[in-house]
Amino acid sequence: KQTGYTGLDYGFVNTASTRSEITYIDGDEGILRYRGYPIEQLAEKSTFLEVAYLLINGELPNESEYGQFTNDIRRHTLLREGLKPLFQALPDSAHPMSVLSSAVAALATYYEDSLDVHDPEAVEINTIRLLAKLPVLAAYAHKKSIGQAFMYPDNSLGFVDNFLMLNFATYAEEYEPNPVLSRALERLLILHADHEQNASTSTVRLVGSTEANIYASVSAGISALYGPLHGGANEAVLNMLSEIKESGEGVGRFVERVKNKEDGVKLMGFGHRVYKSYDPRAKLVKESADEVLASLGVHDPLLEIAMELEQHALNDSYFQDRRLYPNVDFYTGIIYKAMGFPTRMFTPLFAIGRLPGWLAQWREQNQDSKSKIGRPQQLYLGATERDYPAGRDFS
Ligand code: CMC
Repeated sequence: KQTGYTGLDYGFVNTASTRSEITYIDGDEGILRYRGYPIEQLAEKSTFLEVAYLLINGELPNESEYGQFTNDIRRHTLLREGLKPLFQALPDSAHPMSVLSSAVAALATYYEDSLDVHDPEAVEINTIRLLAKLPVLAAYAHKKSIGQAFMYPDNSLGFVDNFLMLNFATYAEEYEPNPVLSRALERLLILHADHEQNASTSTVRLVGSTEANIYASVSAGISALYGPLHGGANEAVLNMLSEIKESGEGVGRFVERVKNKEDGVKLMGFGHRVYKSYDPRAKLVKESADEVLASLGVHDPLLEIAMELEQHALNDSYFQDRRLYPNVDFYTGIIYKAMGFPTRMFTPLFAIGRLPGWLAQWREQNQDSKSKIGRPQQLYLGATERDYPAGRDFS
């Protein structure tokens, strides 16, 4: 007899786990809106911290709210010195996503007020702390991987420039902002800021539903994002493009291997559970890629391979029949590479972008009177009752 079983839905394709007022997606029409605002308008006109405020609080900030919010974040960028040896304990070869999820989980040990998930003031201050500190932790993971000393945040810089300085300067005065790169990164962060109930956000909600603190929940979200089918796809795309270039096999032959599902090979950066037309973010990312490469005067042969792959796929019935289009991860890596980030930093950049969404969704759930601990059903297919064999004794 099956007990408690009401339906089987692998991958939650048909199951809504929550109501939400944060992000709207129409996958057939390629529409994405944060709190009602079209992604195209936010990407063009807004800043990342304004979008973070919007996602978290539901409305765009007025000037004084924006000033207060950005100032609060600026004031919390410093990390406790005691946290830094955590980085030294890990090998230089550590993947920055592993470093990041560990460091975020460890932050909870410094901010135990986060344990009271029903105290609005504690939720507020720990929201600010996470927004301020995650970019610093990511930059330190990067610095550690290249064997360089950590930089202190320079709070005279804006959010994006501070992050770029922490990654690329070896002393503060050395950093010279490049407005084209800063704006491109700001745009990319905005494009990643939320995407309703994707795997990492659902993870944040599931962990949060147990009333675990916000750091534990976000750390779990970072772990879920790490995988190549989710945020890790941006790293996987660049590896795929580099392999196509180095092997010399040619785009046509690679696409044939994808279609024949040889060795499970996929066209990374293509396909989406929700978008069955062009991912609206991918269009905007491609525009940024063109702008950044032109402004740096970079000619990247990987961009040509990516464009050739896209054309092949869009004109091929395998991809047309399955409604597979480029997703947000297809072109981002080319931009991050041009900015000077190593491939392994691509997914941490996604995590920084997605953080406001995780925080907004965690807080929405926390305030929803209908929310309950997440606890999926299963369809049990194992053995029926049987007796432990007589005469067996391992004690
Ligand atoms: N390359 C080749 N075939 C694909 C691809 C791909 N990228 N994506 C889906 N398919 C095929 C799949 O094999 C299946 O074929 P068939 O019907 O013959 O069995 C069909 O299309 C339907 O795919 P699915 O696996 O049922 O789709 P899903 O909704 O479960 O998976 C996905 C969505 C994003 C995991 C998948 O499209 C994929 O693995 N894409 C590559 C990884 C990637 O780019 N991920 C980033 C997603 S966007 C950013 C984010 O949210 O993190």
